[in-house]
Amino acid sequence: MADALLDIDRLDVTYQIHDAAGRTVRRLKALANISLALSRGEAIGVVGESGSGKSTLARAIVGLVSPSSGHIRIDGRDLPRRRGAAARHGIQMIFQDHTSTLNPFQTVGRILDEVLALWRPQAERDERRAQALGLLDKVGLGADALERYPHAFSGGQRQRISIARALATTPRLLICDEPTSALDVSIQAQILDLFAALKAEGYALLFISHNLAVVNRIAERIIVMQGGRIVEQGATSATIAAPVHPYTRQLIASAPRLSDRGALLRSVAALPDHPKKTGAT
Ligand SMILES: Nc1ncnc2c1ncn2[C@@H]1O[C@H](COP(=O)(O)OP(=O)(O)OP(=O)(O)O)[C@@H](O)[C@H]1O
Ligand SMILES: [Mg+2]
Repeated sequence: MADALLDIDRLDVTYQIHDAAGRTVRRLKALANISLALSRGEAIGVVGESGSGKSTLARAIVGLVSPSSGHIRIDGRDLPRRRGAAARHGIQMIFQDHTSTLNPFQTVGRILDEVLALWRPQAERDERRAQALGLLDKVGLGADALERYPHAFSGGQRQRISIARALATTPRLLICDEPTSALDVSIQAQILDLFAALKAEGYALLFISHNLAVVNRIAERIIVMQGGRIVEQGATSATIAAPVHPYTRQLIASAPRLSDRGALLRSVAALPDHPKKTGAT
């Protein structure tokens, strides 16, 4: 697709399973023939059962696993398979387990400053501090966060810090792998509002979740995966209203909040374009 930000073309990923002696005993095809395109400012939701390949897709895009064949293009060009290439091309990943990605021995100010110093080397220290404050504000946290350590925040707040750190690199595409699954339901809703606000600002999102309702809230398009393949894709509301593939039907039927499709579609229509920031998580 010519004007796509991200273009994935017939991507295959095969894992080699080794025994204790390091010999390859088995190969597991985790992704088979995945093609999708994501435009600037667009959000695609990826759903599917456990083991269907969602995280593998995310890891392949950011270069943490190597494809066995196919292409991952950004702005129409193959993404180099070098470490850090995805980040240099404006792709950042946000993980479910944010606690393990934040250094517990650094204050939030230091965590953000390290990234800013790397990504915006021309900025002076004061300027970087202002940028850090701007990032914290964007994710709904105040200036007092700068002097505190990650453990002094709640799970929802730590996810906000992880998002601020990802934004410090001025990405265009955020790959979110179950970014709210570790949070309780009310906090999830606030973090989802934050993602919706980021999308409204122009960030593109590839949003992985096993929860259809979550994807429905964030993404205008949905991809349904099963066994490493895309079994259905389309506009989220249309797909939920009239699923074609039996697995999608099963997924919808098994999601309690989705069993009333009418209520679900109304809730999507009622979503604000620019949700308010809430810093209370
Ligand atoms: N590093 C690895 N080595 C070997 N096999 C792997 C590796 N990572 C994942 N797999 C296998 O690849 C398949 C896809 O896994 P993946 O983690 O992408 O699924 P997922 O859709 O993200 O699942 P979940 O919803 O549980 O997070 C699974 O069968 C998994 O066991
Ligand atoms: Mg996963």
